[in-house]
Amino acid sequence: MSVPIVRTVAELRATVAEWRREGARVGVVPTMGALHEGHLSLVRAALAKAERVIVTLFVNPRQFNSAADLAAYPRTEEVDAEKLAPLGAHILYTPDAGEIYPDGFATAVTVSGVSEGLCGAFRPGHFDGVATVVAKLFLQTAADLAFFGEKDFQQLHVVRRMARDLDIPIEIAACPTVRESDGLALSSRNVRLTPEERQAAPRLASILFASAARIVDGRPVSAVLAEARAAILEAGYRNAEYLELRAEDDLKPLEVFDRPARLLAAAWLG
Ligand code: PAJ
Repeated sequence: MSVPIVRTVAELRATVAEWRREGARVGVVPTMGALHEGHLSLVRAALAKAERVIVTLFVNPRQFNSAADLAAYPRTEEVDAEKLAPLGAHILYTPDAGEIYPDGFATAVTVSGVSEGLCGAFRPGHFDGVATVVAKLFLQTAADLAFFGEKDFQQLHVVRRMARDLDIPIEIAACPTVRESDGLALSSRNVRLTPEERQAAPRLASILFASAARIVDGRPVSAVLAEARAAILEAGYRNAEYLELRAEDDLKPLEVFDRPARLLAAAWLG
């Protein structure tokens, strides 16, 4: 069994219009597929709050920084549709590329502020690609609620800002990061790790958790971050692009831990 697949905006809109006539609230979970428990946790959260749930699957070329990464991105549409059925998701919207970027497409959504720094500094154009496709998915689905993972914490802020600024009437819910039992955050790209890399990978999470605990204990933030950076390299990561303490509510960089905050990092392994 698998969920019904919809590939055109016209069919999507007709389906959603029918749901609205029935008075249903509509939730959307945007994804790039290769679904794992992290994605499925968002779908469950959506089903708990909305009577109808659309999962979207679109591997968005505009948010990739390298052609090799885009080409290597796992694509498992059939399996994805099968994973969604037992949960009770209502449709899998997997638009043809022309439904998202029709010929002559010339518009981009740029969110300043929260998309600067962190991944924004190392992945030029990435958040424009994300904001543009997510704006389109919000408008195409006309959903009332959308669900995003905290794993991509900066993305969550970019999407919130975009929806607020463009008056898209959608409520955005944040869902906690789902991890393997050894602490590694689930990710569609994890299948690309070699067995050795897979073994080293969870050290990033354990270093972040230990560093967060030390910051909460009152150790100086800059010293904790410098030691964590060294530990990440020691663990076998090639480099740490960034490792920063940021305010939870507005992503402002924090030199002193004086309000709810997150440690955010990106590092390369393989
Ligand atoms: P993707 O990487 O497929 O992730 C889809 C959603 O699942 C995002 O909201 C992401 O934060 C969430 N997610 C991924 N791994 C998770 C985990 N281990 N625990 C909890 N949530 C997790 O993020 C994207 O796709 C794209 O940028 C997208 C928003 C779809 C725009 O193209």
